[in-house]
Amino acid sequence: MEQTINWSDLSFGYMKTDYNIRRYYRNGSWGELEVSSSESINIHISSTCLHYGQESFEGLKAFRGQDGRIRIFRPEENARRMQASSRGIMMAEQPVELFMEAVEKAVRLNERFVPPYGSGASLYIRPLMLGLGALIGVKPADEFVFLVFVTPVGPYFKSGFRPAPVCIMRDFDRAAPLGTGNIKVGGNYAASLVAGSKAHEAGYVAVLYLDPKEKNYIDECGPANFFGIKDNTYVTPASSSILPSITNKSLIQLAGDMGLKVERRPVPVSELASFEEAAECGTAAVVTPISRIDDLDENRSYVYSSDGKPGAVCEKLYRKLLGIQTGDEEDPYGWVHIL
Ligand code: PLP
Ligand code: COI
Repeated sequence: MEQTINWSDLSFGYMKTDYNIRRYYRNGSWGELEVSSSESINIHISSTCLHYGQESFEGLKAFRGQDGRIRIFRPEENARRMQASSRGIMMAEQPVELFMEAVEKAVRLNERFVPPYGSGASLYIRPLMLGLGALIGVKPADEFVFLVFVTPVGPYFKSGFRPAPVCIMRDFDRAAPLGTGNIKVGGNYAASLVAGSKAHEAGYVAVLYLDPKEKNYIDECGPANFFGIKDNTYVTPASSSILPSITNKSLIQLAGDMGLKVERRPVPVSELASFEEAAECGTAAVVTPISRIDDLDENRSYVYSSDGKPGAVCEKLYRKLLGIQTGDEEDPYGWVHIL
C-alpha cells in the first residue's frame, strides 16, 4: 500500500524506504553492488563491529529543487571522510567512485521518498561500514560490508531553525586528545550517550564539549561543530578531537564570500562572553543557532538570543547554505551533485 507522508511534519527519525545498498569487501577487493529490500543484515556473532566497535558511518542529504531535480550535497567529501575513518580504525578504504555509485543508486531507487520542494524536509543518506568475520582477538577484520540506506527527515533539533540552549559539563569527554574524535566512528557516539541524555533531561538540545586534555577550549557539540560570530568574524575551533564538518567547511567558504573574516583556531571558553552569535552546524543540524550556553560547572551563562530569533549572520548563512542545497541559489563552488 502506498503510504502518505506528511512531509512538513517529519522529525529526524527512521522511516522504512524501499531499498538499501550493500557491497562486501572480501579477499582483498570490493565486490559488486547489491540491492536489497530487507532492513536486516546477517552477520557473524563474532564480527569486530559488534565487539570492538570497528564501524564507521556518514551522513549526507539529498534535496528536491523547485525544478523537480534531486541534488545531493557534497557527497565526494563524505566519501573521502569515510576513507579517513577507514584508515583510523583499520578498515578497507572504499574508492570514491564506488561510494558515489552506491549513494546515487540508493537515492534513485528511493526517489519517491525525496521530500517535495518547500516542505522543509530532505532525504537523509546514511552510509555505514562494518568489520565482519569470525574473530575474537582484538585485531582488524579482513572482511567488511558497506551499506547505504536512506530515510526522509525533518529538523534534527525539535526547535528547527530557532535558537536552542546547550550546556557545558566537564565530567564527560566524547573523544580522547589523540583518539578517534576526528573521524566518524560509532564509539564516539556511544561515549556521548550518558552526557547527551543528562543534557536532554536538563532541557538542553546538546552538550558543548570542551577539549579533553585541558578543558579550556571549545571542541564541538555532540552531533555538530560550533561557530561563534563577533566583530564581523566567523570563529570556529581548530582541534584534533573534533570531526571535520562538511557543513562547517561550506559555511567557512560562504562566510568569507559574504565579507566576514574567518578564524579557525583554538577557542578558549573565556571567549564565549565576547560572541554576538553562536551556533551548531552539521548535516543534520544544518545551522542551529544557540540561544544560551550554560556552563554548569562554573555556574555561568552566555546568552546569544533571548527573543527566540536567530542572529542576523546565522540567518544569512543558513539561508545561503539551504538555497544552494535546494538549487534556489547559484552553486558557484560545484558543491551540488545533481542526479
Ligand atoms: N561533529 C560531529 C560529532 C558530527 O557527528 C557531525 C555530523 O556529521 C558533525 C560534526 C557535522 O559534520 P557534517 O557537517 O559533515 O555533517
Ligand atoms: C549528521 O549530521 O549527519 C550526523 O551524523 C549527526 C548525527 C545524527 C550523529
